[in-house]
Amino acid sequence: MATLDAFFARRMGLFIHWGLYAIPGWHEQHQLRLRTPRAEYARLAAQFHPTAFDPDAWIDLAEAAGMSYLVVTAKHLDGFCLWDTATTEFKVTRTPFGRDVLAELAEACHRRGMPLGLYYSAIDQHCTFYPNRGRGHELAGPEPGDTPEWERFVDIMERQITELCTRYGRLAVFWWDSGPEIGLTAPRLNPLLRRLQPGILINNRGLSADGDFSTPERDYSPEFDAQKRFAKPVEACQAVGAESWGWRQDEDYFSTRYLLGEVDRVLARGGNYLLNVGPRPDGTVDPTSAGILKAIGDWYGRVKESLTDVETVEDIVTDPAVPVTRRGNTLYLHLHRPLNARRLLVTTLTARPERAILLNDGRPIRTSTELLPRYYRKGERPLRLCDLPVDEFAGSVMVLRLDLA
Ligand code: GLC
Repeated sequence: MATLDAFFARRMGLFIHWGLYAIPGWHEQHQLRLRTPRAEYARLAAQFHPTAFDPDAWIDLAEAAGMSYLVVTAKHLDGFCLWDTATTEFKVTRTPFGRDVLAELAEACHRRGMPLGLYYSAIDQHCTFYPNRGRGHELAGPEPGDTPEWERFVDIMERQITELCTRYGRLAVFWWDSGPEIGLTAPRLNPLLRRLQPGILINNRGLSADGDFSTPERDYSPEFDAQKRFAKPVEACQAVGAESWGWRQDEDYFSTRYLLGEVDRVLARGGNYLLNVGPRPDGTVDPTSAGILKAIGDWYGRVKESLTDVETVEDIVTDPAVPVTRRGNTLYLHLHRPLNARRLLVTTLTARPERAILLNDGRPIRTSTELLPRYYRKGERPLRLCDLPVDEFAGSVMVLRLDLA
């Protein structure tokens, strides 16, 4: 996965938010959002003992979802390190579990040819050198006894990044978080990453403006929603739950239909999709999240040819709810919003394709260019794709394949 192209050919990745916050099971920013004093939050480390942690099970799930890379929270905002760092005692190897989670995950990923990326937060709510001032998702201010000093903290990040880049084999992606929201920079860190891990891709949430791709999150970025084809490399991210990225016991899960629409919308426009689950404190993924991933994988397996090795075509269907992808003479029409009738009219096409099928189940689709009552004045005869099973597929995203002459 040396180049950006190879990365974007991978299309979907599994995002994993996992750390101490899984134990209370409320939100990954438990410490900040429940205003929990640092020392009290840190005591969760004494309970971290994920007896069912099995990196192969995570990879199995990613594969079942049609995903082909993985990004895990090496360090979230709480500062807890999922690897055996020498920079702090606030780490997985100082919990009852005592094992280097990242080492085990990296071993499994390398053994199975699954590219691994690391999420790493620039904000650190545990380190006493971090200058908390309430910017973005920082703590409101220093806690008593803190000695905020950005340069010193950058040195710590440098040591942590060096550990991450030299001990765990090849890394595909470095997925910074929270850099831009704090208005501080550390321009030497991305060059360090690129030197230690040649070919690594770095996202745009770091501490300098030299990232390789942008990361629109959930539906917070209208400027991305407006683009019919992404002008620059985009990896969209979303969680299976509406509230939290970490495990939340009482989560409000998104509907599978909604997520399929989002996945399709991003992939059809040329972006990658990084979909997140938060494993439980024992290390397993809950059945609802796993079920959502499997449903996505089932759908993706059927429509995959419309989303891989294709180009996005902007001028065939003007309705932004129907992105079109193309490979040679084959067009794929993505119906990511429900149709209001059992037909789709394509006014830019006036010849019937040689063949039309519904990719989701392979059934042939009847086509017609006969005059429709609504066009009696102008006599236009747009291509009509007829008898579409809109009710049967109301819970899914239909993709139509048209083989043109
Ligand atoms: C949001 C959340 C953060 C999470 C991130 C993933 O910014 O606040 O906790 O890690 O999304 O993109």
